Amino acid sequence: MPSRRKFLWTSALGTALLGGVDHLVRAENRSVPFSSPRKSAARPPIVLSTWDHGLAANEGAWKILSAGGRALDAVEAGVRVTEADPKVNTVGLGGLPDRDGKVTLDACIMDENGRAGSVAFLQHIRHPVSVARMVMEKTPHVMLVGSGALRFALDNGFKKEKSPTPESERAWKEWLKTARYQPVVNVENHDTIGMLALDAKGNLAGACTTSGLAYKMHGRVGDSPLIGAGLYVDNEVGAACATGLGELVIRVVGSHLVVELMRQGNSPAQACRLAVERIARKHADLKDLQVGFLALGRNGEYGSYSVQRGFNYALYADGKNRMENAEFHLK
Ligand code: GLY
Repeated sequence: MPSRRKFLWTSALGTALLGGVDHLVRAENRSVPFSSPRKSAARPPIVLSTWDHGLAANEGAWKILSAGGRALDAVEAGVRVTEADPKVNTVGLGGLPDRDGKVTLDACIMDENGRAGSVAFLQHIRHPVSVARMVMEKTPHVMLVGSGALRFALDNGFKKEKSPTPESERAWKEWLKTARYQPVVNVENHDTIGMLALDAKGNLAGACTTSGLAYKMHGRVGDSPLIGAGLYVDNEVGAACATGLGELVIRVVGSHLVVELMRQGNSPAQACRLAVERIARKHADLKDLQVGFLALGRNGEYGSYSVQRGFNYALYADGKNRMENAEFHLK
């Protein structure tokens, strides 16, 4: 499993960054102003995102990263590709509805300054991640939900779209015939897109967006819009995102846990594994459940781990966009 990028570090900065994790721990003990990103020298950018749909999303992000753009812009542009794809039935307006036939969307975004924006239980909007970014940039808040989030979006120029799509409505009507609630591992359990990027300036950002579990209870919100659960970014340490059954991720505040484990000196891959093991210790029967974590260190090291086989992610690094399989817990 890939766990470390092979960079050609030629600068003194590179040497410093490869000097182990002590500096990360020391960085934690320094008083860092809330809004001052770390300054660092040019480096190769990297972006990774969950599941097969991550390949197309990475392409969108890479256009920005390869031109020297900001990680925040890259992750927003990247996951918008997935949000706009009507064939993806777990993200955006193409997503499967809840039990009442409503498509309700969750998304969040976080930048290198520790700023965050989020929307949950949002309907009728094609790009929830961009509304989340606007919450971050235009309001004093982190999170808006439901009708308040919709009103904010419409007031800020987003268009109200028809939802559900005919395909989603058809699927829901089919589901109603039995109304059995048994999400399928790795398909409905759950293939959120989470994306993490490191830009050429050495700054991190992340985004996460989903329609949530198919046929969930009306009003259910998963981990994806919850800062610390579905996504967490700390420019001093690294970034992490989650996919899978949100309830399991929320209970351990999964992405924040992964970043804090990295802060303690674990590699991204080790941190993801320890977070999955934390979940495993709390749930006796994980047979039909899936959670996967992705992590990206501030030095470009990355890793992943999932509860069970089947979690993959798209990685754009060293000029190549490719799929990688995560290591997993249940052998
Ligand atoms: N991880 C997405 C959800 O559970 O809604």
